Amino acid sequence: MKATARAHANIALVKYWGKRDGPLNLPTNGSLSLTLDGLATTTTVSWEPGLAADEGRFDLCELAGPELAKISRFLDRVRAMRGWEHRARVETANDFPTAAGLASSASGFAALAAAATWAAGLDPAPRELSTLARQGSGSASRSIFGGFALWHRGELADGSDSYAEQVLAPEAWDVRMLVTILEAGPKAVASREGMNRTVATSPMYPAWLATVEADLVAMREAVAARDLEAVGTLAEASCLKMHATMLTSQPPILYWQGATMALMQHVTRLRAAGLACWFTIDAGPNVKVLCAGQDAARVAAELGSVPGVQRVIPCAPGSGVQRL
Ligand code: PMV
Repeated sequence: MKATARAHANIALVKYWGKRDGPLNLPTNGSLSLTLDGLATTTTVSWEPGLAADEGRFDLCELAGPELAKISRFLDRVRAMRGWEHRARVETANDFPTAAGLASSASGFAALAAAATWAAGLDPAPRELSTLARQGSGSASRSIFGGFALWHRGELADGSDSYAEQVLAPEAWDVRMLVTILEAGPKAVASREGMNRTVATSPMYPAWLATVEADLVAMREAVAARDLEAVGTLAEASCLKMHATMLTSQPPILYWQGATMALMQHVTRLRAAGLACWFTIDAGPNVKVLCAGQDAARVAAELGSVPGVQRVIPCAPGSGVQRL
């Protein structure tokens, strides 16, 4: 009745931006990501027959309101799978600074999906676990897997064909993702709201849809070939294309700060000077930089010298969800 799971965050190289179904988190396009060893969520779930309501604690703080409601709605899906009405106690913690603006929903819902099902005595196949995690947060579908993961868009209305799978194991390629933490800025627009606004209002969104599947095919080939230049070039282009759709939404969505721009320009300069590295940015100001393992220390020192950068977390490819 009790289980603990650990899952890692992931960073998309071809981005997910837009839902074709809100409640099920079904995407308008497929995406491909790298799971990171540095950023993990550990979650323990215990199902307690005597409990009147679900309880949740995050980093030892009691959860309430919309945060607890989100967990409870997710647990409803596990209750339906298991065919019982028991309530659960959920304890979760991140080993990275949550307030720093790093998305933790991917590692969070991947760990919760695993811990909740395992504690209920279920043993879903990885694909089923990915489908379940997706319903908490789309990007969580990819954190079930280590290394490089491809999340299929799927075609079915019930979402049963919209799951992720591993396309390259973490130990197969010595790359690094350097995650920069910027000094705290204004609160960003949540990804769900940002996606919906972009799909509804951006005149660039049709261009995104028209090109993203070809990007995905090219990225999948580049990852299989372990061609860092091709992966980096495609990742930067996918990131900028996604941000172009956000910027042209009504009202516009601008996640960048001054230091975000400075980092993008610094990465471009470093590359021109012969240091191979490429940036990507999600629904927030932090910049993540991809490079070869052997160059990671040099690139990290360069990024750390940019004004406004508080910290650089170097991450190697991480493993998929694990039972502790
Ligand atoms: O599933 P969410 O709500 O974590 O949305 C993720 C959106 C991006 O991080 C911007 C892109 C992605 O594919 O992870």
